[in-house]
Order: sequence, then C-alpha cells, then structure tokens
Amino acid sequence: MNGSIVPWLLLAISTISIFSDVAMASASSQCLGVDQRSLLLELRNSLVFDSYVSSKLVHWDQGADSWSGVTCEDGLMVGLDLSKESISGGIDDSLNLAFNNFNATTIPSGLANLSRVAYLNLSYAGFTGHIPTKLSRLTKLRTLDLPDKATSLIGDLGELRELYLDGVDVFAEGSEWCDILSSSVPKLEVLSMSYCSLSGPINASLMSLANLLVIQLDGNNLSSIVPRFLANFSSLKTLSLYDCDLQGEFPHEIFQVQTLQTLDLSSNELLQGSLPEFQENGSLQTLVLSFTNISGRLPDSIGNLKNLSRIELKRCGFDGNIPSSFTNLSQLSYLFSSNNFTGPIPSLNKSKNLIQIIMYNNSLIGQIDSTQWESLSSLLILDLQSNLLEGNIPSSLFTHPSIEELLLSNNQFSGQLKGSFDAPSHMLKALDLSNNNMGGELPTSIWELRGLNELFLSSNNFSGSFHINSIQQLRNLSILHLSYKRFSIDATNTASQASSFPELTLLHLASCQLMTLPQFLVNQSMLRFLDLSHNYIQGDIPRWIWTPKYLMNLNLSSNSFEDFETPLGNFSSTLVVVDLHSNMLRGNLPP
Ligand SMILES: *[C@@H]1O[C@H](CO)[C@@H](O)[C@H](O)[C@H]1NC(C)=O
Ligand SMILES: *[C@@H]1O[C@H](CO)[C@@H](O)[C@H](O)[C@H]1NC(C)=O
Ligand SMILES: *[C@@H]1O[C@H](CO)[C@@H](O)[C@H](O)[C@H]1NC(C)=O
Ligand SMILES: *[C@@H]1O[C@H](CO)[C@@H](O)[C@H](O)[C@H]1NC(C)=O
Ligand SMILES: *[C@@H]1O[C@H](CO)[C@@H](O)[C@H](O)[C@H]1NC(C)=O
Ligand SMILES: *[C@@H]1O[C@H](CO)[C@@H](O)[C@H](O)[C@H]1NC(C)=O
Ligand SMILES: *[C@@H]1O[C@H](CO)[C@@H](O)[C@H](O)[C@H]1NC(C)=O
Ligand SMILES: *[C@@H]1O[C@H](CO)[C@@H](O)[C@H](O)[C@H]1NC(C)=O
Ligand SMILES: *[C@@H]1O[C@H](CO)[C@@H](O)[C@H](O)[C@H]1NC(C)=O
Ligand SMILES: *[C@@H]1O[C@H](CO)[C@@H](O)[C@H](O)[C@H]1NC(C)=O
Ligand SMILES: *[C@@H]1O[C@H](CO)[C@@H](O)[C@H](O)[C@H]1NC(C)=O
Ligand SMILES: *[C@@H]1O[C@H](CO)[C@@H](O)[C@H](O)[C@H]1NC(C)=O
Repeated sequence: MNGSIVPWLLLAISTISIFSDVAMASASSQCLGVDQRSLLLELRNSLVFDSYVSSKLVHWDQGADSWSGVTCEDGLMVGLDLSKESISGGIDDSLNLAFNNFNATTIPSGLANLSRVAYLNLSYAGFTGHIPTKLSRLTKLRTLDLPDKATSLIGDLGELRELYLDGVDVFAEGSEWCDILSSSVPKLEVLSMSYCSLSGPINASLMSLANLLVIQLDGNNLSSIVPRFLANFSSLKTLSLYDCDLQGEFPHEIFQVQTLQTLDLSSNELLQGSLPEFQENGSLQTLVLSFTNISGRLPDSIGNLKNLSRIELKRCGFDGNIPSSFTNLSQLSYLFSSNNFTGPIPSLNKSKNLIQIIMYNNSLIGQIDSTQWESLSSLLILDLQSNLLEGNIPSSLFTHPSIEELLLSNNQFSGQLKGSFDAPSHMLKALDLSNNNMGGELPTSIWELRGLNELFLSSNNFSGSFHINSIQQLRNLSILHLSYKRFSIDATNTASQASSFPELTLLHLASCQLMTLPQFLVNQSMLRFLDLSHNYIQGDIPRWIWTPKYLMNLNLSSNSFEDFETPLGNFSSTLVVVDLHSNMLRGNLPP
C-alpha cells in the first residue's frame, strides 16, 4: 500500500458507481458540455479496462450521441456508473495521477456537486485487486472549488440516503467507522457494508443515524456482542449480521422491534439467546438463525408473525415441540430446521405458499397426514429425513404436481406403496424412502416416475421381483440405491439392451438376490460407485468391471465369483476401494 495514505479510512475500491436518484440512463451529447466530455475522456484514458467486457467506456467518444453510464440533468452530470466495466487499473498505483487529472480548472461542476446524489453504490464489480485510495483524496476531487477545506467525501454527502459499500475493504481503527458514518451521513436510511473488513464493536454513535431502515454488515469480523441499543432504531426493517463472529446473548428487544421484517444472524456460532414472545401483528418476514447457538423453545406466539415467510433454524439448539400455532403461518414459503424438535409436525394446510420444507435430523414423531399436501401447489422440496415419523406415506406426495425432491429416509414409515403411483408425478427428481419399514410388493408403476434422477429404496421390506430392464424407462436416472430389500432382481439378458440404459453414477444392488452380473454394466462409463455385494453371482470377474473412468468404489463381496478374467486390463485410476471378500476366489491376484 502507498505509504502516503492518510490512515483514517482506506478503501480498496472494487467499483465506483455513483447514481443519482434520477433514472439511470445514458446522457445525451446535448446534456453534456464539451468540457465535461473532455474530462470524461481523460478519465477513460487513464483507466485500464477490458474493452471486450466494457459496455460503457468503450463507447465514449467526443462526438458520441450518448454517453452510457453517465447521468446528467440540466447540463450537469449527476451520476457516474462504471460498474461491471472490468476495470483492472488506472486508479491503483496511478491513483493520484488519475484523479489529479481532475484539476480545479477542469473539474465538472456536476461531479463536484454530490449533494444531489441520493444513492452511492460502490459495491462489487469490475475492478480487480485491491486498489488502495483514500476517501479524502476523493474529497479533494469533490471540493476542488474549495481546495483547502478538509472535508471528507462523505462529509459532502449530507443528504445521502443509501450507501452500498459491499465488498470494499474499509480499513478503519476499531469502531471508528461508526463515528465517521454518524457524523457524515446523518440522513442515511440504507447502510450496506458487507465484507468490508470492519471490526467491532458497534458503537453507540451509530444511533445518531436515526432514520436507518436497513443495516447489512454481513461478513465483517465484529467479534463482539450485539448491542441492545440496536432495538432503538424505530424504523428498522432489515438487520443482517451473517457471519460476523458475534458473541454473547442476543438481546430480546431486537427480535421485538415492531418494524423489523428481516433478521439474519446466521453463522455466528458463539451467539447465544432464545426467542422472546412475539407481539401480535409482528412484521417479521424472514428469520434466519441457522448455525448459531440460539436455543430453547419456539414460543407459541410465533404464530403471531402472520407475515413470516422464511424461517431458517438449521443447526441451532432448539428443542421441544413445534408449537401448533405454526399452523397459522399462512405466508410461510421456506421452513428449514435441523434441531432437536420433538412431537408432531403441525398441519401446514394454511401455508399454501410453501416451497421448501427441510426438517431433517430432528426427533419429530407421528404421522404426516395432517397436511393436505396436494393443496401446497408450490412445494418443491419435502425433506423429513432422520426423524421418528411413522404411518403411511400419503399417496398425494407421489402424485404431487410440483414436488421435485421427496426425502423421507431414516424414519419408521410403514405400509405399502401399492396404488401410490397411479397418476405418477413427472416432476419428482429425487425419491428417498430408504431405511423405513415399508413392505409389500414394489409396484411396477414406480418406473413411471419419468423425471427421476435419484431413487433410494434400500433397507425396507419390499417384496416381489422385477427385471432390471425396467429401469430403462427412467431416462434421467443417475443414482439407484436398492440394496437390502427382500425382493429379487432379475438381471439376465441385459447385454443386448445395454445402450438404452440411463447413465448411472451410483448403483447399489446389494442383497437383491442377483444370480448374474448385469451385462448392461459394460456400457456404464460414468459409474463411480458399484455395490453388488451379498448376491449369488458366479463365474469370473470380468475385465470390463475395473474400467469405468471415474470408478471409485467397487464392492463385489459375498458372492460366488471364482476367478478373474485375465489379463486384468486397465484399472480405473480413481479406484479407491475394492472389496472382494467372501467369494470363492482362489490363488493369487493375477498381475
Ligand atoms: C450496486 O452495484 C452492484 C454492481 O453493479 C449491483 O450488483 C448491486 O445490485 C447494486 N446495488 C444496488 C442496491 O443497486
Ligand atoms: C493540477 O494542478 C496543479 C496546480 O494547479 C498542477 O501542479 C498539477 O500538475 C495538475 N495536475 C494535473 C494532472 O494536471
Ligand atoms: C449544486 O446543486 C445545487 C442544487 O441542485 C445547485 O443550486 C448548485 O448550483 C450546484 N452547484 C454546482 C457547483 O454545480
Ligand atoms: C464509542 O464512541 C465514543 C465516542 O463516540 C467513544 O468515547 C467510545 O470510546 C467508543 N467506544 C468504543 C468501544 O469504541
Ligand atoms: C476476528 O477478530 C478477532 C479479534 O480481533 C480475532 O481474534 C480473530 O482471529 C478474528 N477472526 C477471523 C476469522 O479473522
Ligand atoms: C435506547 O433506548 C433506551 C430506552 O428506550 C435508552 O435507555 C437508551 O439510552 C437508548 N440507547 C441509546 C444508545 O440510545
Ligand atoms: C451454547 O449455549 C449454551 C447456553 O445456552 C452454553 O452452555 C454452551 O456452552 C454454548 N455453546 C457454545 C459452543 O458456545
Ligand atoms: C393487528 O392487526 C389487526 C388488523 O390489522 C388489528 O385489527 C388489530 O388491532 C391489531 N392488533 C394489535 C395488537 O395491534
Ligand atoms: C403483512 O403484509 C401485508 C402485505 O404485504 C401488509 O399489508 C401488512 O401490513 C403486513 N403486516 C405486518 C404486521 O407487517
Ligand atoms: C440434541 O440433543 C442432544 C442430547 O439431548 C445433544 O447432544 C445434541 O447436541 C442436540 N442437538 C442439537 C442440534 O441441538
Ligand atoms: C390461529 O389464529 C387464530 C386467530 O388469531 C387463533 O384464534 C387460533 O387460536 C390460532 N391457532 C393456533 C393453533 O394457535
Ligand atoms: C388439513 O386438511 C386435511 C384434508 O382436508 C384434513 O384432513 C385435516 O384435518 C386438515 N388439518 C387441519 C389441522 O386442519
């Protein structure tokens, strides 16, 4: 970094885009004076940018009819947007040079007049690398008509309402940034400084920004507690403190801010706390507490959050029942939780907007028939894996018009699938029923689920038999897990149809009473995992079995293989595990 830089606040600018509240557009040539155009060209010439990516700078020209990225009003430039121009230099080491070009005589008055800029966006975009500069340098730029006045850039932006500096490295001592902001942008409503290398704690001086509606400080290592005074912002709508290394107890008062719509505290593993009672008509829409140590029970009064549409509680410490008032959350779209919740899943009949329900790894009990699943017509994912759920799986889930992932493994579901696929869903991409107590014959209509990409049915009590050729109907199948069931699979005579099988990456047919090695495997070049253990396959282990390019794991144990086809040929270079134990192989492995 440049040694001459004033230390109070350093920026690595990742993009500059200064918008006015006037609609973003291209300035027409009539709007920009000759001097302003010359100046812009000078700026353009000092920048290093990729002319293949540039959609604005590359078109700037003294005689151009329109100047994209430039906004002007009444002959004054009021906005400059150079985002996504892939600018890689020119502001860097040559910074002083670049900006010194804006000398008193040439600076366009509009550029200097930032009091009209209502929106300043310095977020991520084209610039690559860290480009150290200091705001005070830009200050000069903006106050050239008063060259000796040491006001800061932000100091000139007293009217600024929205500040987006996401991804810009701001080097400030401790919580100095709070002081700087509070003294320079008193009317700020949106403060978005995610990933700015800010440090904590949040200083009470921030309270002087009394109009704040949005505070987004994600990805800054604040390593401090969340101060109670944040609850004093009387209009706060969004508080997002994802991954800020927050500690201590999160203040109840903040959950209860009446205007709060979005609260994201996720990925602060040391942050403790619990949910308070929620008042009636709470406005929370998004509550994200995943990967924190916030714990305890969900209060019944969570049902008061009538507008709650996203609740994410992955891997926090909640336990107890999910309150029945949940049934009143009619706007719920996303429900994520893996905690220690017990008790039944409340009826979700009224939550018609549900898109994802992800509640694996809890201790939920009971049946799942209190919800009329077919009426949740936007549902894409239902993941209830690893709970203690039981009873029949409602057939409406298999014929559902929109579900793509139905993941119910590791529960105690029982009953049969017969009749379940009578009008099979063609949307279903992943179906996992493994490790349950389901029985009866596996209905052949399961092969009508034409969209299936992943099918897991292992470790159930399904009976009956089918021919492996059936899976040819599932054109998109990639993963097939059928191990440890009571039924038998006939794998004879598949060679002639080998080319019409889907390309599998995983095939587990352990303990499926296979008598022969399925010959269609000769064509399976994408296989990574193949498990044919605990079957009755005899004869030689063929040369082709070693060869799929990405094969990692091959299990042929507990069969009746007698010998190897020699020479062995080429082994897949990715092969990690080969299990051949409990066969009738004799003698040494061939070289
Ligand atoms: C700021 O600019 C970036 C890059 O162009 C853009 O992705 C982002 O949406 C902008 N922010 C706002 C609030 O407009
Ligand atoms: C800016 O002006 C100063 C004095 O007016 C002059 O010394 C300097 O060379 C000028 N810079 C550029 C880049 O023109
Ligand atoms: C700045 O903007 C104000 C209000 O729009 C205007 O009156 C003033 O003349 C402008 N100043 C400059 C230096 O352009
Ligand atoms: C917060 O700011 C005040 C003055 O604004 C200062 O006295 C105090 O030391 C700051 N606290 C921290 C923790 O930086
Ligand atoms: C966060 O800051 C604290 C205190 O300054 C420091 O000990 C810790 O290592 C930092 N964590 C990360 C991930 O940078
Ligand atoms: C926040 O509000 C409480 C009471 O409403 C008050 O006691 C406290 O001083 C305020 N904190 C700040 C930092 O303004
Ligand atoms: C989580 O919070 C509990 C108290 O609620 C505490 O006993 C435990 O140590 C905390 N765990 C971590 C990792 O901070
Ligand atoms: C909640 O909102 C309803 C309808 O908007 C209103 O009738 C009721 O009084 C409000 N309740 C409270 C406690 O504000
Ligand atoms: C809930 O959302 C509706 C529609 O957006 C809005 O009119 C209503 O004010 C919100 N209720 C609360 C308590 O925020
Ligand atoms: C669930 O509870 C068990 C013991 O009761 C505990 O070991 C485990 O960490 C808890 N899990 C979560 C996600 O809180
Ligand atoms: C759902 O809301 C209604 C009206 O606010 C209330 O009467 C009912 O008790 C709530 N249901 C549950 C299960 O909390
Ligand atoms: C949900 O709807 C189903 C089907 O209409 C009904 O059987 C069930 O009782 C409903 N559940 C609740 C809690 O209303």
